[in-house]
Amino acid sequence: MAEHSGGNGRGEGANAMWGGRFAQAPDAVMTAINASIGFDRRLAREDIAGSRAHSAMLAAQGIVSAEDAAAIDAGLAQVLAEIEAGAFAFSEALEDIHMNVEARLAELIGAPAGRLHTARSRNDQVALDFRMWVRARCDEAADALTRVIGALLDQAEAGADMVMPGFTHLQVAQPVTWGHHMLAYVEMFARDRARFRDARARMNECPLGAAALAGTSFPIDREATARALGFDRPTANSLDSVSDRDFAMEFLSVAAICAVHLSRLAEELVIWSSAQFRFARLSDKFTTGSSIMPQKRNPDAAELVRAKTGRIFGAQVALNTVMKGLPLTYSKDMQEDKEPVFDAADALGLALSAAEGMLRDLAPEPARLRAAAAQGFSTATDLADWCVRRLGMPFRRAHHVTGALVARAETLGVDLPELPLAEMQAVEPGITAEVFEVLGVENSVASRTSFGGTAPAQVRAQIARWRETEA
Ligand code: ARG
Repeated sequence: MAEHSGGNGRGEGANAMWGGRFAQAPDAVMTAINASIGFDRRLAREDIAGSRAHSAMLAAQGIVSAEDAAAIDAGLAQVLAEIEAGAFAFSEALEDIHMNVEARLAELIGAPAGRLHTARSRNDQVALDFRMWVRARCDEAADALTRVIGALLDQAEAGADMVMPGFTHLQVAQPVTWGHHMLAYVEMFARDRARFRDARARMNECPLGAAALAGTSFPIDREATARALGFDRPTANSLDSVSDRDFAMEFLSVAAICAVHLSRLAEELVIWSSAQFRFARLSDKFTTGSSIMPQKRNPDAAELVRAKTGRIFGAQVALNTVMKGLPLTYSKDMQEDKEPVFDAADALGLALSAAEGMLRDLAPEPARLRAAAAQGFSTATDLADWCVRRLGMPFRRAHHVTGALVARAETLGVDLPELPLAEMQAVEPGITAEVFEVLGVENSVASRTSFGGTAPAQVRAQIARWRETEA
């Protein structure tokens, strides 16, 4: 169990960090349930950055000597180098990343290492490390979303007047354009990006210096460490500082909403790339073949993006559940905060990259899209609107008349543009040949010029607006 059984003095017998009070070594099961080093080693970089800022502040405040702080800083730089080189021997007996780093520092520099933990506790240390880690993931997610939005805008531009069916209930509703459909996702992902940025701004307060829970009697400078670590300010309540995991819960809720959007996009890609739809083709780079059916091109990447959503939702439920009954301040339960967040962040990062890749290569099939747009009486609303405009009918009556015309077309097995004028006049004598102008899908789409509507002119205006904000 102990990786350091070679007698280097680390993790043997009573704990080196609090051995003063303990005569017996922990049970093996205790070590196994208590250790977090298996996963919190991912916080090494943040842990060392936090310690270096803390040690520099301790020296500046005259709490440790300049020489000790210099030795600590050089030692921590070496620990980081060892970890990054994969040359660091993590020890389960040393529980977590904080104690692993400190124990190695002691091996490297001796006695001064013992001064690093002055005016600090693992409680504010872990709150700091985790917050910095999540903050970096917010930035990465926002950047990845910017790339997804860029790919969507390119698609929108290329297909600004490419007619496709718009659906409600997955039934053809009205013709829309490919560009308009792509822009709908731009809106969603831009909201996600704003939520990540907003969450980042809210979490950007530094808990370091809260110490165990009550603050410290040492004359620390919390403004200095906050500044050094890129925070806007120190947190204002030491109890809240060590017990708050809102930043992680908020990251997961924002990630969960983003995952919903990714999953809906992925679902459409799965449907569109099917033989029944053939609305768009995914590239070879993001599909797989079948080991038995040579004709298959499976949209695995899209399916996995859709499925990753489950892990992200699971992470959110897991963390909310860990937190929901905890009294102030720190409880060891909170060690269970990290794995769900790590897993969700990994899943989200992959899903965003896969979405971008699929969108970059996605090839719409204009002829298939147009043909599908013309099916299913998709211009019935245009016909009703024409009756309102030209014949002065109340919309409700126009709706009724159009319904009768659709029923007639269905009986005759034709689409609305092929329904003979005489058939139309049998239902509504006022109808003239002029009506055919609004029954074509291009005219239908071009007529929807209301703000945010599907007309190519509107779509181009929206693309131009986005290009400006994205520049
Ligand atoms: N490994 C611990 C965690 O992840 C660090 C904090 C330990 N604090 C304590 N009071 N035992 O939460």
